[in-house]
Formats: sequence, C-alpha cells, structure tokens
Amino acid sequence: MDSKKEQNIVLIGFMGCGKTSVGKRLARRLHYPFIDTDQMIEKKAGCTINQIFERKGEAFFREMETDILQEIRTSYRQTVIATGGGLPVKKQNRELLKEIGHVVYLKTSKETVMKRLSGDTTRPKLRGEDLSRKVDMLLNEREPIYQETADQVIEADNKTFYEIINAIIDTMKREGKQ
Ligand code: S3P
Repeated sequence: MDSKKEQNIVLIGFMGCGKTSVGKRLARRLHYPFIDTDQMIEKKAGCTINQIFERKGEAFFREMETDILQEIRTSYRQTVIATGGGLPVKKQNRELLKEIGHVVYLKTSKETVMKRLSGDTTRPKLRGEDLSRKVDMLLNEREPIYQETADQVIEADNKTFYEIINAIIDTMKREGKQ
C-alpha cells in the first residue's frame, strides 16, 4: 500500500460468515464501492461457480481467484472487498491480501455456518452428503489460515451488522488507516 490511510478493507472467512452482507453495509456507511471476488469471477467466466468447478475444475477456479486479486491490487483503492471462503488457502493469495488492505476475519462457529448453509446448492465444496463432516474438515484446515492472514479478527456469531461495522471502523481509525 502506498499510504496507510484510506485503505481497502478486505473481508475473509468461511462460507456463510457474512462477508457479503457485512461488506455491502460497510461500503454504504463509508461511501466506498463494494466488490465481491466470487461475483467478479462469475462475470469474467460468464457462468456460475458451480459450472466453473464442473467444467474446468477447482484448480482453474483458484487460478482465477489469484488473477482477480492481482487486478484488485493494481486497480482498486478505498473499496470494500468480500472474498471467497477458500481464497486465503493459497500462500500467494495471502500475500496479495496483505498488500491490498486491512484484512478482517469474520469468525463464526460451526453451528452458525451449518444453520446458514444447510440446503445451499451454490457452493461446490459443500455439495453432496454429510455437510457436517465437510464443514468440520474445511474449518479445521482453514481456521489457522484465516487467523494468520487477518489484521483484525471479529467474533461475528452474536454481533449485529452495526456492531461488526463499528468494530472495523474503530480499529481502522485507531491504527490510522481511516
Ligand atoms: C468457496 C467459497 C465460496 C466460493 C466457492 C469456494 C470455498 O465463496 O468462492 O464456492 O472454497 O470456501 P463464499 O465464501 O462467499 O461462499
């Protein structure tokens, strides 16, 4: 980042943790634009994430995530960015995220994730049998990665949007990033 002030804000965390819902509201509050890496990828590919996974495989989707991050790093300032839940798993992506802006991990429990995602058919990583086992496996693998990548961790389970947004803005002000 060229300047510490007026940074991008990047939201990371597991599927269903509220990155998009929080991000849209935070952007409105700050009068920043809002972007979502999943939406950018779908637009670029001209099909859904499910279709990308089916037609080209997960590795191809992960390449697209890195391309999008590189584009964001060069072209976006003062923007709120929601990211796909698996994006920080790749080391290169974690380095890019840190360069892009203030990274916030919205931490949610397995129970919250399960409640929000049961019946969801839009996420290829969770399709098929035994949602509970899949969520367990992915959460265990990713939790330390989210923690390591984040500048700020917010326990989001029992917080309102208003509280989450205030926590982000307060921290950024305190750290001279706003
Ligand atoms: C994924 C999360 C999804 C999307 C894709 C893969 C993952 O994003 O990028 O289905 O591996 O966790 P959300 O976290 O916005 O659901």
